[in-house]
Amino acid sequence: MATRKNQSGKREPMKTAATKTKSKPAEHAKESVRPLLTGDAIQARIREMGKQIRADFPGEPLLLVGVLKGAVLFLADLARQIPGEVTFDFIAVSSYGKEAKSSGQVKLNKDLDSSIEGKTVIVVEDILDTGLTLEYLLRVFEQRKPKSLRVAVLLDKKERRMVEVHADYVGFEIPNEFVVGYGLDYAERYRNLPDVGILSLPAGAH
Ligand code: IMP
Ligand code: MG
Repeated sequence: MATRKNQSGKREPMKTAATKTKSKPAEHAKESVRPLLTGDAIQARIREMGKQIRADFPGEPLLLVGVLKGAVLFLADLARQIPGEVTFDFIAVSSYGKEAKSSGQVKLNKDLDSSIEGKTVIVVEDILDTGLTLEYLLRVFEQRKPKSLRVAVLLDKKERRMVEVHADYVGFEIPNEFVVGYGLDYAERYRNLPDVGILSLPAGAH
């Protein structure tokens, strides 16, 4: 383990990311996750979505564009349910603070690796919430002249929509609750859960 000298000259462990996270579980102990969608239900729905997507574009090469990081698990499973030629690319965006939602400002953190011109593109996103992220992405992608542009989202929180965005493939419509798991995070945690659940925070948190 890395060490550094403290004020009295004695060696002590350095606080690395790894050592810092050791104190976290107690801090997060009061968070709980209430099941909403089981991993099995998610996989069954994704099988249907994969079939539907292929049926809509028979024999065509498809480019799945995943929105990092939340859509990674969904894209990985969806891709395996679409027969034929499928390629991937990824984009990363962040919104300017949850409070500034009405501004609709989205920042592009990582662009695609390749051109989408003339390609059949399916944007793959974890959740459609206010719609601001997808509205921004669709505007950017349209300008690049794909042959077709479609949207697949695992979850749709319809009640929260602030701008009209159409998703062509929707896994599940869910209530207006903050959900985690299967790629979705709270402060970067819970992405690894195989199920999707509703997160409860201790009173006063947020
Ligand atoms: P939108 O721009 O408001 O539609 O936000 C979409 C993004 O917000 C998603 O890609 C998620 O990263 C995040 N998000 C929205 N709702 C939730 C949720 O319930 N849990 C975790 N992340 C969420
Ligand atoms: Mg996301």
